[in-house]
Amino acid sequence: MQPAVASIWSGVPPAAADRNDSARLPGRTGEDTAINTIILYVAGGLAGLYLLRQLRLRLQLSRAKHRSLTGHSRMARRVAALVPFYEYGESQFFRADAAPDAVAAARRTGFMRLAAVFAERFGKTAQLTAEVSPAISDLQFTSRYRVPFQFSGMVRRHFKAGSFVESASGVTVTDLDGNRFYDLTGSYGVNVFGYDFYKECIEQGAERVRGLGPVLGPYHPVTAYNVKRLLQISGLDEISFHMSGTEAVMQAVRLARYHTRRSHLVRFCGAYHGWWGDVQPGVGNPLAARETYTLKDMDEAALTVLRRRRDIACVLVNPLQALHPNVSAPGDSTLIDSGRSAHFDREAYGAWLRRLREVCSARDIVLIFDEVFVGFRLAPGGAQEYFGVRADMVTYGKTVAGGLPVGVLCGRRRYMRRFREQRPADICFARGTFNAHPYVMGAMYEFLRRFDTEAVRALYRDLDGVWSRRARALNDRLRDAQLPVRVANLSSIWTLYYTVPSRYNWMLQYYLRAAGISLSWVGTGRLIFSLDYTDADFEAVADRIVSAAGAMQNDGWWWSTPELTNRKIKRRVLKEMLQARWAAALRTATSPIGSMSSPRIK
Ligand SMILES: Cc1ncc(COP(=O)(O)O)c(C=O)c1O
Repeated sequence: MQPAVASIWSGVPPAAADRNDSARLPGRTGEDTAINTIILYVAGGLAGLYLLRQLRLRLQLSRAKHRSLTGHSRMARRVAALVPFYEYGESQFFRADAAPDAVAAARRTGFMRLAAVFAERFGKTAQLTAEVSPAISDLQFTSRYRVPFQFSGMVRRHFKAGSFVESASGVTVTDLDGNRFYDLTGSYGVNVFGYDFYKECIEQGAERVRGLGPVLGPYHPVTAYNVKRLLQISGLDEISFHMSGTEAVMQAVRLARYHTRRSHLVRFCGAYHGWWGDVQPGVGNPLAARETYTLKDMDEAALTVLRRRRDIACVLVNPLQALHPNVSAPGDSTLIDSGRSAHFDREAYGAWLRRLREVCSARDIVLIFDEVFVGFRLAPGGAQEYFGVRADMVTYGKTVAGGLPVGVLCGRRRYMRRFREQRPADICFARGTFNAHPYVMGAMYEFLRRFDTEAVRALYRDLDGVWSRRARALNDRLRDAQLPVRVANLSSIWTLYYTVPSRYNWMLQYYLRAAGISLSWVGTGRLIFSLDYTDADFEAVADRIVSAAGAMQNDGWWWSTPELTNRKIKRRVLKEMLQARWAAALRTATSPIGSMSSPRIK
């Protein structure tokens, strides 16, 4: 028996085991075998326990993922790769929701009238845009993704609005044709205090550092003030300057990994943190981000993951998500129905941040507030002050360099150091040619100086009250006019949503443009007001929103029947996609070189 048993455990074939019998050391008896057996049982038991634990962790992770595709980055990328291109021909364009002929005809008339307005008013601006577009990848991308792709070609052919502006003043911008627009782009969030404020920062900042010019490496003396003031504002110990918000976030995560010696970052479903691969694991990034967990925002299951896993270095929070937790930044290109929703609850989000803070402290996970967007917009002390929660690291950007490009990272001393005293070769590298550029530091200095003036502090007085009252007033007007549009807001950051199922909500951005409102390429998903909007300015914007929505309603775009639900719209689009995919497969199968023409639904 003995040799056979030994061979089973050792993996040695019986014959070989027999041959080794003679070489057995004295004292190797049945007792040894029993010990071996026990050891193996214990090892097996431990391995089993380990596997069980891994399984439990895996299940916890699955439970902490949002059930939408946004919560499943890898699957989202795979699904996105399968979406076929097709577009609507002229007839289908106006009745993608199976509207009756009369409604489609009204839409067509409205569309052509609006196109004529665009051609007449925006000629010069559109012409220059058309000239440079083939050479500017960014322009090609943004102009293509303003509306759902099925409608995009026709919209681009008829609404040539242009992407140039010549000047800014107060809360308006003026294009090359002399049209003045109320600016709701907020310059991607940079414009907190009004364009004239930033013009002054840039001009006087340049004046201040002119003597040094473009010298890099050593700092201009204004930098010392910027450091001191930003550390006071953030309540943190050390700072590093970068060239963009994306880079500040990269550095925060790199340092968190270095100091915790853990690999993974946690971001919350839908949150934007710049375009670096690790924070953009889903659609848009050709590679999977393997060291990123995307968890459900405001959800207990996410806290369980933070409590249990040992590989989490940091948690990234973009407080803007408070307006739409677990949903990506709302752009009109994904507005295929009226499913967009938003609602801000300051208490609930603050409570969530406090719980996150507790768990991160208990687990020594670095809590990073990414305030690149909301810093300085919600309160003088940013989101930390606004929600009453302190982070270990905070990133700023956008507005803080007075209108020039920047990223800033502030952090606790224990997380900011880039070397280890006792291990001189174990460093955490970060540099950047243009970091702390004198002109950026000059404009930042002017920004921070003005930030402390009474005039600017007055803008924060009753800030939420002001913007929420304005939002309510606009909603009342929209309701009274029986228009299916509403606004939700996080202070001065607004989003429009729609109360009647429709495939055409994205058209509103073109009616708004014709009414003199400038939106960024995400359309009605994000309206950003600067805090210098007076009541009169705001009234003018509200008038335009109501009249633009009224015109759109009159042109039949919000025609609806009880049968037309958001779910039905989604199903219909899915069916179209499957048909387009099927047709593409057929074309490839029947044509040796495949078909190059774009599929069109007449
Ligand atoms: C929260 C947040 N983080 C990071 C970034 C990236 O900043 P940047 O565009 O300057 O790289 C943005 C930009 O919109 C942002 O909103």
